Amino acid sequence: MTSSSLRKRKKRLRILKNKRVLLGITGGIAAYKSIDLARRLGDEGASVVVAMTEAAKQFVTPLSLEVASQNKVYTSLFDEPMAHISLPSSADVMVIAPATADIIAKFAHGIADDLLSTCFLSYSGKVVIAPSMNWRMYENRIFGENLRKLLSTGVVQVGPERGDLACGEEGIGRMAEPAEIVETVMSALTEKDLAGEKMVITAGPTREYLDPVRFISNRSSGKMGYALARAARDRGASVILISGPSYLKKPQGVGFVGVETSAQMMKSVKQSVQGDTTVLVMAAAVADFSPAVTSRTKIEKTGDLNIPFRQTEDIISSVLGAGKRPYIIGFAAETGNNIARAQKKMKVKNMDMVVFNDVTEAGAGFDVDTNKVVIIDRKGKTRLEVMSKDSVADAIFDRFIEIKA
Ligand code: CTP
Repeated sequence: MTSSSLRKRKKRLRILKNKRVLLGITGGIAAYKSIDLARRLGDEGASVVVAMTEAAKQFVTPLSLEVASQNKVYTSLFDEPMAHISLPSSADVMVIAPATADIIAKFAHGIADDLLSTCFLSYSGKVVIAPSMNWRMYENRIFGENLRKLLSTGVVQVGPERGDLACGEEGIGRMAEPAEIVETVMSALTEKDLAGEKMVITAGPTREYLDPVRFISNRSSGKMGYALARAARDRGASVILISGPSYLKKPQGVGFVGVETSAQMMKSVKQSVQGDTTVLVMAAAVADFSPAVTSRTKIEKTGDLNIPFRQTEDIISSVLGAGKRPYIIGFAAETGNNIARAQKKMKVKNMDMVVFNDVTEAGAGFDVDTNKVVIIDRKGKTRLEVMSKDSVADAIFDRFIEIKA
């Protein structure tokens, strides 16, 4: 791996460092979460400047935001001459959270009658909005038209979520959580060096049923596959994530298929990998064995149990048969430093890249946030130190880009 790609990867993960975020807060009950959002953006190294609407001041005080952002808070067009030009011109990204139906309508129609709406009109950079409102408003046709119009100009939307709303009703309209908004802002700022790639990524374990209530599975959490899906999405790829059972949150902005068994995963991969799929990443820990017969009723306890297992069909090999094949990245989870075994797997399965990890090593393996891998491809080996699974995901795609170049 070249030092320039290492630098690029580190830069992406610290993308908010020294960036200026103009955080617009409008009048919704979710405004209280914006205090946390300002703090989190600051924790990522960003300098946050807040512009609040009059209505937002009914929900949170400028002083709270001043403390959270450690910066002056702007509330009026007349706070400072030309603030509507100077604030946007020095911002790397504008984030509106919460974004009410009112501000979305104003933005969509170019109405500029207060500080925030004038800032928006004079800004030409990336804008992220986190809508928040009652579900009836969110589902309103006119609001929908305004939102679509705004999104068609390149504005990025995060949330809202479905759940209990402040008014006591249930439905879609809850503002996305601050952590997710930060993730979206980082993604919006990331260089789209995987644009044009169509990826199918598998993640997590599979379950192989003995009977309707019992199954065998493995310790995979899905963390590596989900990190790959997020990284590919942030870098501009279109992604389908096929996941075995996992407690992880579905990444936004990717196609998602939930499966349980290796047979379902096989079916889903076959359906998802199309002629225009450019990359298949098999990060799933697909079970190698499945009970030869799955009992339709619960197996009764009558003494020791011997169950014959059959080897599952290999998913990678099934994709290879189909006409134009995608670039195939597989994983080899080994117990011990057996790189030769991973290399052999790569050859036998005709993979283009295999990511080796020794699951018994400290900082690698199941349900941890870090991994220590060796990336093996047709041109050589890249040994990486222990790093977050997000960084490993970036390293894998950096190498993919290097090879393609
Ligand atoms: N894999 C697959 N279909 C299977 C089993 C595994 O496509 N039925 C994929 C995995 O997702 C992984 C790669 O093949 O990317 C290697 O998986 P692994 O289980 O480590 O290798 P095996 O070839 O099954 O070898 P072994 O179990 O002997 O280590």
